[in-house]
Amino acid sequence: MLTVAVLISGTGSNLRALLDAASAPDFPARVVVVGADREADGLAHAEEFGIPSFTVPFTRFASREEWGEELAAQLRIWQPDLVVLSGLMRLLPSALVDAWAPHLINTHPAYLPEFPGAHGVRDALAAGATESGASVIVVDNGVDSGPILAQERVPVLGGDTEHTLHERIKPVERRLLIDVVRRIATGELDLAAAAAS
Ligand code: GAR
Repeated sequence: MLTVAVLISGTGSNLRALLDAASAPDFPARVVVVGADREADGLAHAEEFGIPSFTVPFTRFASREEWGEELAAQLRIWQPDLVVLSGLMRLLPSALVDAWAPHLINTHPAYLPEFPGAHGVRDALAAGATESGASVIVVDNGVDSGPILAQERVPVLGGDTEHTLHERIKPVERRLLIDVVRRIATGELDLAAAAAS
């Protein structure tokens, strides 16, 4: 059974979908802990599922590095096989990335390498793109630049706002994330090989 830690910043709708999927008896992974960089609404999903959670507030640390050290200490308690960034809106310090790579993955609401960064949906709209998408990647020390594990196109429709486009992307993201976690757990997807490619 693959054990998973999920890190969030926001509403945690993708976390919720993973928790739902992982509660099926035949799903080969379990979420063992949920962490956040702030008092995120999504922590309520962990509580509902009886899963432990922790918060390491970014703003309480003098530097990204110190914040990352505390985050790493929390993760070490739970020793997950995989860490999933599911809407964590912070760059991780390189020491943390290097410690967990390649067992560290991220979901992103755009078809990478298009529109990386904190505003993938907004940037696609601003660029006048007619399609965007969703991606799941291995985290490296760049901004959404790691090897792509899964991605799918999503159309941009006339009149889309950041909210409507994001809401169209999220169900695709959820499906991709759940499938990637399942494939990692079964051994069908080899993260070390994917990261080396
Ligand atoms: C998701 O769309 C995720 O890809 C995005 O934040 C959203 C979180 O939604 N992450 C990024 O943009 C990271 N660059 P959720 O809290 O409802 O799961």
